[in-house]
Amino acid sequence: MECVVQGIIETQHVEALEILLQGLCGVHRERLRIHELCLKSGPNLGSEASEVRLLCDLEQPEPTWTVRHVGGSMRGAGADQISVLVRTMVESKVSKNVLRLFYLLGYKLDHELLRVGFAFHFQRGAQIAVTVSSVNKMLKLHATDEAVPVTPGIQLVEVTAPASAENYSEVAASVSSFCEYLAPLLHLSKPGVSTGVVPTAAAAAASLMSYGGTTIM
Ligand SMILES: *[C@@H]1O[C@H](CO)[C@@H](O)[C@H](O)[C@H]1NC(C)=O
Repeated sequence: MECVVQGIIETQHVEALEILLQGLCGVHRERLRIHELCLKSGPNLGSEASEVRLLCDLEQPEPTWTVRHVGGSMRGAGADQISVLVRTMVESKVSKNVLRLFYLLGYKLDHELLRVGFAFHFQRGAQIAVTVSSVNKMLKLHATDEAVPVTPGIQLVEVTAPASAENYSEVAASVSSFCEYLAPLLHLSKPGVSTGVVPTAAAAAASLMSYGGTTIM
């Protein structure tokens, strides 16, 4: 399982967010360049409709592939009370001919994206990962060099942490309390709950930039 929250930020404030994250996590950012292929298989005889994502990390010297299946989210009173989505997620490293394999299994390409940005991985009550990325679509099949932004000027921020049925409430609490530090710059909520940019972002970014100014200039 994993705990997840998402939010958006204007690209002009991403540098301030990076300074804040760097200060909070004490680790360096990792560059992110992920080619994501969303595959779907229709309901066939004896099998239900299913969706998987193939992720190719283009930042590595040799592109590496991962397959990810996101399952159902936790429901019920307990799940409603927490501000973090808890969902099942299975992820596995795979070899580079994985796309062919899924085509043979009857999956079809639904859409593909290129995420470009950075990530921070650190321990803070839970193993938290923060990714900040612009989401791009390809104009031609698999043409990652000709990708254009889906939402120009806006980047997606995602905070995730691995959890289990035993520890999810503890992990969710750690994720929520970490998100409070980011609140002046962006609002993070369960995926699918749309929240816009926060009104305080410009002022918060300006003050972060003046603190960090000596290191950025
Ligand atoms: C919660 O459980 C998951 C899965 O076993 C584990 O990866 C994670 O480190 C645990 N987190 C905490 C804070 O105990």
